[in-house]
Amino acid sequence: MPQSKTIDYQNVNLKGTIQVPGDKSISHRSIMFGAIAKGTTTVSGFLLGEDCLSTIDCFRKLGVKIEVDGTNVTIQSAGIEAWEEPKEILYTGNSGTTTRLMLGILSGTSLHTVMTGDASIGKRPMRRVADPLRLMGAKISGRADGQYTPLAIQGTTLKAIDYTMPVASAQVKSAILFAGLRAQGTTIVREQEVSRDHTERMLKQFGGSITVDGGVVSIEGGQQLTGTHVNVPGDISSAAFFLVAGAIVPNSEITLENVGVNPTRSGIIDVFENMGAQLSVHIDDENAHEPTATLKIQTSQLKATTIEGDMIPRLIDEIPILALLATQAEGKTVIRNAEELKVKETDRITAVVTELKKLGAKIEATDDGMIIEGPTKLHGGSLKSYGDHRIGMMAAVAGLITDSPVELDDADCIAVSYPSFFEHVNELIHK
Ligand code: S3P
Repeated sequence: MPQSKTIDYQNVNLKGTIQVPGDKSISHRSIMFGAIAKGTTTVSGFLLGEDCLSTIDCFRKLGVKIEVDGTNVTIQSAGIEAWEEPKEILYTGNSGTTTRLMLGILSGTSLHTVMTGDASIGKRPMRRVADPLRLMGAKISGRADGQYTPLAIQGTTLKAIDYTMPVASAQVKSAILFAGLRAQGTTIVREQEVSRDHTERMLKQFGGSITVDGGVVSIEGGQQLTGTHVNVPGDISSAAFFLVAGAIVPNSEITLENVGVNPTRSGIIDVFENMGAQLSVHIDDENAHEPTATLKIQTSQLKATTIEGDMIPRLIDEIPILALLATQAEGKTVIRNAEELKVKETDRITAVVTELKKLGAKIEATDDGMIIEGPTKLHGGSLKSYGDHRIGMMAAVAGLITDSPVELDDADCIAVSYPSFFEHVNELIHK
């Protein structure tokens, strides 16, 4: 049974410095590339969230040696040809990234595998990945013609494709690129709106070659990758909860160190600027494989904004917490072109609107986003996380500004991406 939690933090201020845990997207990919590459890969700053542990578990079942020592991980692999056919089902838990990227990786092996995840994964669309992979020759079967887990994959020889993405999705793009690495010929992926590019960046770190020209990514099949060291920066999607908390909780000042600010992920910084937030950004090393920065946020007078178009993929996971921010901004904030929210860990348009309304927010759902009017004083209430870590953290941050406690039905799900979330809240709280 999931644990409920009372968020009872009235009249607090937030002050101090924290380092948010490692980036979830980059942590997953470090294990995947480490398992594909020949030799030893070392990872520092790895996220010990449940999603990334699911990825480790899947690769261990494929015979890859992975040792975890705190946030340091060592992967030893003799390359993809040395993987063993797993005797057990690969369990991907709550992780869409694990499920979708593994589909791309496993399609080009010589192995038969079966993958399944939790109830949320069982409702998320997989044909967006299975369809382009089938064009490459992949043999994938599952419920509703491969739309839903459990999925069975019979690895086979793949051929390259030239694919135009119908939705902005780094998971779809990455699955095709991983398959392209094993395919005959040059695979091309064309994006209308650029999604996060961690796969492209990390491939180069492992000695691979890939060309990126605007929204066109090309990868040659048959490349051999070599183990390396990966340094995982802090996750901007986790930092987002404290950026918003710092901006809306009175008399606060929070410094977040070592936050990844890859331009394909840093849309929230642009939105903070548009809303007039007191955010300072100090870039540590722009030329790192993944650039990082120190972010400092202070309580801010906020004005409403519009979030739309090619900004959406750059902050898709931050929309729940940005909706809470907008309840405290002067005017009408419009979020549009974000229909992808409906197929995340839960339908995040419905979840955000339903839960924030319970606290008195003026928020309405639209077909592709939401409209929020502010500023509104929020009151306490009983909220649901829908088993979605980012909805759970949104509810907890809301509880920092409500006039009475917020009761959250399931706070355990937060461990999917941020196991130390409440420890960090408690570290920053001053009365
Ligand atoms: C991710 C891509 C995004 C994001 C998810 C992680 C990734 O999903 O929402 O949390 O690591 O590639 P989509 O590819 O569905 O947009």
